[in-house]
Amino acid sequence: MLRRDFLEFVRCTALAAAIPNDWRVRFRPRFVDDPFGLGVASGDPTSNSVILWTRLAPRPLDPDGGVGGTRPVVSWELAADEGFGSILQRGRATAAPELGHSIHVDVQGLDPNRWYFYRFMSGDAVSAIGRTRTAPPDGATQPLRLGVASCQHYEQGLFTAYRHMAVEELDMIAHLGDYIYEYGPAEGQVRRHSAAEILGLPDYRVRYAQYKSDEHLRAAHQRCPWIVTWDDHEVDNNYAGLIGENRMESEEQMRARRAAAYQAWWENQPVRVPRVRSWSDLTIRRGFKWGELAHIWVLDTRQYRSDQACDDGNREVPCAEWSDPSRTMMGNAQEGWLTAGLAANRASWQVLAQQVMVAPYDGLEGPKQRVSMDQWSGYPVARDRLLRTIGQSAPNRTVVLTGDIHSNWVNELRSSFSRSGAPTVAAEFVGTSISSGGDGVDRYPTVNDRAMAENPHLKWQNARRGYMTCTVTPEEWLTAYRTVPFVSRPDAPISTATTWRLERGRPGILAV
Ligand SMILES: [Fe+2]
Repeated sequence: MLRRDFLEFVRCTALAAAIPNDWRVRFRPRFVDDPFGLGVASGDPTSNSVILWTRLAPRPLDPDGGVGGTRPVVSWELAADEGFGSILQRGRATAAPELGHSIHVDVQGLDPNRWYFYRFMSGDAVSAIGRTRTAPPDGATQPLRLGVASCQHYEQGLFTAYRHMAVEELDMIAHLGDYIYEYGPAEGQVRRHSAAEILGLPDYRVRYAQYKSDEHLRAAHQRCPWIVTWDDHEVDNNYAGLIGENRMESEEQMRARRAAAYQAWWENQPVRVPRVRSWSDLTIRRGFKWGELAHIWVLDTRQYRSDQACDDGNREVPCAEWSDPSRTMMGNAQEGWLTAGLAANRASWQVLAQQVMVAPYDGLEGPKQRVSMDQWSGYPVARDRLLRTIGQSAPNRTVVLTGDIHSNWVNELRSSFSRSGAPTVAAEFVGTSISSGGDGVDRYPTVNDRAMAENPHLKWQNARRGYMTCTVTPEEWLTAYRTVPFVSRPDAPISTATTWRLERGRPGILAV
């Protein structure tokens, strides 16, 4: 191609993208404002490595983040101390417009079971300081303090819960999805809504920037490494594989939307996932080792699932294709990976970090059953396969952590929910939202004594906002439900609504 033609090609491409392209790397970039306003984060720790993340966006709500098509050089430092007197590693990376000017540094060669500090620099700008840590070495049984969060609708409430989470002295935070919401103006708005339903990559990028403008969210990211999975709202409410919420989208439309949404998710999260051939097929299932104490299996129950049965919603069962054994929640590859992994793993506790409730909740009195088609209850054969695997490979040392439904639930999981009298083999702790749903209530009016009797595996339920903290030792697991009384105004206090206890190897969940 002639140089003149090439320049014309670049100009046209740039015009099409509405971002002037500049392929030169800028060693001394100048920014219109602080480029580190979205904060810093770390994640996916192993015993010797961790991902450090930032994204340059001096004008966070502009589609190009205010960096245009330029390629600023970003340097990073990792230190033993918060004053950066003892810098252990440093390096440089280039922020590229086609990846939203995001930076993911996979720092290697770290010591196990140790805290570190990190920061980024670009031009004259210096980021906030983040704190992160590595996992304990193989064979170690040090305790784990794990925080669990999900569902943070920006417009429906303040992220006060994160302010409290940031001072909990947690080793790690697991986020179970609904980190953003894709839809437009909704009921119960507390904060100003930015735009209508988002579909394309620039829109998803701006939505993440809007969420990360929250200082409490940034504070929680700064404090410890996170392990993040997604639920439906990172793409489209209740999507299933390549079927959209309103079931009118073509497969090509859903591929394009997933590609935009999955790429924006990667750009905005401190994650280590396999490099992709197509952003529409991003594999995010992965496992984390905490010495010999715990193995955390991070699952994706959205990308590969069969369409919800019987037109979605809450349905009386059995109905139509509901119990078809070919229907899947995790897809064959992920299900095989988890089944083999649970059979082979020797860690004291097996932890499933995933999205939708495993236990059934029967909302009908008497022998008839009505359950949610979007949860594992909508995939009863796949659920029984999962529970049988747990019963065979890791009975009563498996804990399922769940998000999605903006409420707290403590469930004993049986080896099957299709036949009565099956033994308890696991515990499920469903964590409430950070803000989705607004202020919340102590208990849904429908979850009364009759409903508790109808669902004997259900130990407790509450619909306040907040998060869970899990304190794990080889023989005991404690889950505290931390709740705030309101999210519609600032400065809500935090308190423990209730704490639940597991003894490894013993069936059942005990009140503390
Ligand atoms: Fe949600």
